[in-house]
Amino acid sequence: MKKSNFITLGVESSCDETGIALYSSNQGLIANSLFSQSDIHAKYGGVVPEIASRDHIQRVIPLINEVLTSTKLSLLDINGVCYTAGPGLAGALLVGASIAKSIAWSLNIPALAVNHMEGHLLSPLLEQNKLKPPFLALLVSGGHTMLVDVKDIGDYKILGESLDDAAGEAFDKTAKIMGLGYPGGVALAKLAKSGNEKMFEFPKPMTNRPGLDFSFSGLKTFARNTFIKYPKQKADIAKAFEVAITKTLMIKCKKALEQTKHNTLIVAGGVGANVSLRSELNNMGEKLKVKLFYPRLEFCTDNGAMIALAGHLRLLKGQKDESYEINIRPRWSLEEL
Ligand code: KG4
Ligand code: ZN
Repeated sequence: MKKSNFITLGVESSCDETGIALYSSNQGLIANSLFSQSDIHAKYGGVVPEIASRDHIQRVIPLINEVLTSTKLSLLDINGVCYTAGPGLAGALLVGASIAKSIAWSLNIPALAVNHMEGHLLSPLLEQNKLKPPFLALLVSGGHTMLVDVKDIGDYKILGESLDDAAGEAFDKTAKIMGLGYPGGVALAKLAKSGNEKMFEFPKPMTNRPGLDFSFSGLKTFARNTFIKYPKQKADIAKAFEVAITKTLMIKCKKALEQTKHNTLIVAGGVGANVSLRSELNNMGEKLKVKLFYPRLEFCTDNGAMIALAGHLRLLKGQKDESYEINIRPRWSLEEL
């Protein structure tokens, strides 16, 4: 399987971003193209699955052509194709899986299903290729919040996860309550910058009890009730909300680091782009002598590069789908890998 230069095409279409990338064993990431549908879904206040699928259909081939043109490569130069098979929206996943399997089948090269969360988890390796497990991973995206004990690439134990709203979802819903649009995580974080931290104190859910699970839905309700009472203090509410989420995530990371004895923490997923979270975690890292790694900002949110990398590592180990049949796994836990 190992060729002198193995080039992997990665396809991401699990939600509202179409991401296509090329990863080369000699040069690392050589091309990365993305189309975000967030403006399309904004007017509905959330992702509309059918619209997402239809848009992926229109984007995949132009984006594949774009990465090939930018690298002056042709489809014939590709040695393997990997695609997000789950978790995600079924119709959206099917678009990526169909094009990936069709290309692999027509070129008679391996195809490989990639778990979207493993893509996020390995995304810091796009820059830090010397970073090696074991380490602890905090995955904070729009759909998931979890702490993962990474014993090796492919060997994952979930130590704790969100029982209701994920961190990103709580950011988005709270932003929506305050009329900040969709997806509002970034807007809420921006507004929080001008907020006064001393105005409100929000609860830090589940930090006083043992265990590493998360629950952010009550925090969102707390924010709503505060907003109804003090509608003119949006920035202060945004600040209190952001502080509560970032401190909760920090406290849980600290517990997980003590529990696992790891001295490396990687943070990935959309909320990993949050500046307050990064500074809170960096302070904790300094105190505990724990090294922290984050993906580049553009690779925190969904992208094809992380899928190309995660698939590339597995393809090089000789893993591939058993057939060219188009299969997806809308629910697919990291622990099943
Ligand atoms: O990882 P991602 O692209 O999607 C999933 O796989 O779910 O993460 C998107 C989430 C959204 O909820 C978005 O509001 C949130 O990440 N997000 C942020 C920031 N940037 C993105 N939340 C807080 N602060 C940010 N700077
Ligand atoms: Zn994601």
